[in-house]
Amino acid sequence: MSNNLTIIGLSWGDEGKGKFTDYFAQRADVVVRYNGGNNAGHTIKANGIKYKLKIMPSGAPLEKECVIANGCVVDPKILLEEIDTLKKLHKKINLKLSSTAHVIFPFHNILDGLEETSKGRFSAGTTKRGIGPTYSDKAARWGLRIFDLINPEIMRPKLEQLYKIKKQLINIFDPSWDTDINSIFEEYKSYGERLKPYVIDTAYYLNNVIDSGKKVVFEAAQGNLLGIDHGYYPFGTSSNSNALGISAGTGIPPKKIGRIIGIIKAYTSRVGEGNFPTELINETAEQIREQGGEYGTVTGRPRRVGWLDLFNIEYGIMVNGVDRIIITLLDALEGINPLKICTGYELNGKVLKSWPIQPEIVDICTPLYKSFQGWEARTREEWLEIAQKGYDALPETIKIYVQAIKEELQTDIAFLSVGPDRKETIVLDNNIF
Ligand code: IMP
Repeated sequence: MSNNLTIIGLSWGDEGKGKFTDYFAQRADVVVRYNGGNNAGHTIKANGIKYKLKIMPSGAPLEKECVIANGCVVDPKILLEEIDTLKKLHKKINLKLSSTAHVIFPFHNILDGLEETSKGRFSAGTTKRGIGPTYSDKAARWGLRIFDLINPEIMRPKLEQLYKIKKQLINIFDPSWDTDINSIFEEYKSYGERLKPYVIDTAYYLNNVIDSGKKVVFEAAQGNLLGIDHGYYPFGTSSNSNALGISAGTGIPPKKIGRIIGIIKAYTSRVGEGNFPTELINETAEQIREQGGEYGTVTGRPRRVGWLDLFNIEYGIMVNGVDRIIITLLDALEGINPLKICTGYELNGKVLKSWPIQPEIVDICTPLYKSFQGWEARTREEWLEIAQKGYDALPETIKIYVQAIKEELQTDIAFLSVGPDRKETIVLDNNIF
């Protein structure tokens, strides 16, 4: 049993982290977001209500203490909209917002679109929420932080400087572009006033929380393969969207982080551009997409789908030190036969020993598959009944499928998920947190 738990996606995001963060958040005191911004969509279905959160941590519907830590980039308008929506649902807001998280401005969104277009075939297919340009400004050290936002006299000169630079850059792509900096300043000043009550130094807060023995859930956004350092660069996002982002993104030392849970889908999905070695472009893909509801939470884009790729997941398990896995969306594969799982890649007639992180190499590899017998379609009530009876009630074909995953990854399974609801969960190991 560990006091702290991290939940990461082991593929390209959308593995069902929201459902399990919500699950573990029930036992937690604090839920923390430490990377990304409103590019992340978390869908949580609880007590008949579907919450679609983008920047608020998944503990918000449970009225848990929620922290948006320094590793995040924050669009204040979107955050305030989510706060208002939760308030309308009579949810108490227990938010702590880091004074050193970076602020997304409207020109970041514009640049996101322009940069994407000019990247041509190297574009990542971003969510166009200004994430990359805001992290670029952070690294360039002229970005504005939440502290600046809540102190207008400090914000003004920094915003003017940043605007000057960004205008020159945007004008390279679009010479006629201009905007009224005064109205941006006034708008953001008012966001700062509204957010000020939530702003603290979250590194102190979180270290104190952990030292006092409280339970913390760290919630990664996106997935390991989209991570800037250990993903499919340049076809990913701009932060460490895995467990490696926690320390820098919160100020919590690595030794205090605790256990790591990695979530994988029973198949693979991806939004955006870039390599997808096990992608399916056929009727099976259509079927999985419909059955799995594979449409982006943030952008509504249909997601690309394909077979499970255990070769790149193995890499994620290694770099993140994953303790247990959770397999989600097993119900979404119903009625498909046979099923396949990729267990390795072949390159020039040789079976590779390690996953090649370079997209150019992945492109010329051939995935190697094992085939499995599928399982029949069931009604929602039948899936719920199976979940409530537990592992033994699963069809044999599912048991064979999940045991093969466990053996291939040499990692124990904590939970299986056969539907979006909290109740549609099969518990195999409940002692992790
Ligand atoms: P950005 O994070 O908007 O810059 O987009 C970079 C890449 O990450 C694109 O391929 C996006 O589709 C992908 N991406 C960003 N956020 C998510 C997410 O929450 N789920 C899945 N993919 C995402």
